[in-house]
Amino acid sequence: MNKYIAPPFRIKMIESIKMTTLEERKLKLKEAGYNPFSLRSEDVYIDLLTDSGTGAMSQNQWAALMVGDEAYAGSKSFFKLEEVVKKITGYQFVIPAHQGRGAEQVVLPLLMKEKGMYYISNTHFDTTRAHVEIAGGRAVDIVIDECFDTEQNHPFKGNFDLERLEKFIKEKGPSQIAGIIMTITNNSAGGQPVSMENMREVKKIADKYKIKTLIDGARYAENAYFIKQREKGYENKTISEIVKEVLSYADIFLMSAKKDGLVNIGGLIAIKDDFDFYQKCRTYIVPWEGFPTYGGLAGRDMEALAVGLEEALEETYLQHRIDQVRFLGEKLLEAGVPIQYPIGGHAVFVDCKKICPHIPYFEFPAQAVCNELYLEAGVRAVEIGSFLLGRNPDTGENLESPLEFMRLTIPRRTYTNEHLAYVAEAVINVYKRRETIKGFDFEYEPPVLRHFTARLKPL
Ligand code: F0G
Repeated sequence: MNKYIAPPFRIKMIESIKMTTLEERKLKLKEAGYNPFSLRSEDVYIDLLTDSGTGAMSQNQWAALMVGDEAYAGSKSFFKLEEVVKKITGYQFVIPAHQGRGAEQVVLPLLMKEKGMYYISNTHFDTTRAHVEIAGGRAVDIVIDECFDTEQNHPFKGNFDLERLEKFIKEKGPSQIAGIIMTITNNSAGGQPVSMENMREVKKIADKYKIKTLIDGARYAENAYFIKQREKGYENKTISEIVKEVLSYADIFLMSAKKDGLVNIGGLIAIKDDFDFYQKCRTYIVPWEGFPTYGGLAGRDMEALAVGLEEALEETYLQHRIDQVRFLGEKLLEAGVPIQYPIGGHAVFVDCKKICPHIPYFEFPAQAVCNELYLEAGVRAVEIGSFLLGRNPDTGENLESPLEFMRLTIPRRTYTNEHLAYVAEAVINVYKRRETIKGFDFEYEPPVLRHFTARLKPL
């Protein structure tokens, strides 16, 4: 068998991308305040900022757009989407949202009976954490320790630490826990999967203390593929069967459909069987997102999503998807570049703490490597480390992230392995001159979510 497989699709439409000169890139990066978020995408050659809404739709999805029913209420396209989501999840109630954070904004406050309650997750994604905090709650991450050691091999580095989870619930009292959010795959930890066994145990604990469980399923199909590959007893199950079992361990499914929905915009709320909770969501979706049969989406968006959800569960698609990420990761490993290992589902996470031990966390080593990579080759990556983490609200001190990652995030069905080989070469070149890389300080620092709009200056 070949080491890497070829894409299970042909390319019949292309978008041109253009390479810039080093002089141009130096200027663009300076203008962007040394923050790749402020670059224009036309000045980027290969864009690995995110896998969110950046993928390519299939011919069937493009065809589906044409039959979108743009009715404000009771759109045919909604009922098509609802049918597909019910079939995939086995859940009774479905509400669309414009994207993942729209779904979070509606659902998370509704499970909090009072301010100060906790949500526990393996790792909250930034917007999930933000919506918990905006609603007056507290977001706590309880992930296994292996996740913080990038060299340690563990098939499911995204897992909850079950012992600490139960201890925390007992300590705070079950009435203080608003819900347990299983983020699959665990994005912030490196696109690391969560095992079926772990989710089953989380559900047992949740049931014991009568706590609701939620799945943040942005990359639930990729997680299911890892279960099939790595977990005993699942090698002969279909992806759909695995997904059904995973979803049986939750009460609520939240999804940013911009990932495993294979669309450029979209989100979902699905509720297993709690009719009262569904009624509440239906009420609050209206002022936040829109009428419950469109939730911020056009009819055509719902059509494309109905098709994309099914395509993302095809095993040949998932095999190539995960294989492509592995292709990039293994090229880096072969050259000695330190990365989060095993390689995750949607991105390769480069361990910049190891690459630039001479840059302290408050001078943002991973941001420095991202900037260097843009200068080297016009490739845009994103920092997941202390620059993103921000400051302690009480002391104003920069927080130190346990990991300083440069995330090379791979959009779905968009780039070929030739693009990724080019990226690997560029990262390796940067790695070779790692000792010359310097840190950054703020020129302008916004008070919240600083990494999106901050301006930096080189030290
Ligand atoms: N949950 C997870 C695990 C995510 O990764 C994201 C988005 C969201 C929720 C929010 O969804 O963007 O549709 O509102 N992650 C993107 C990323 C932005 O780059 O990782 P959204």
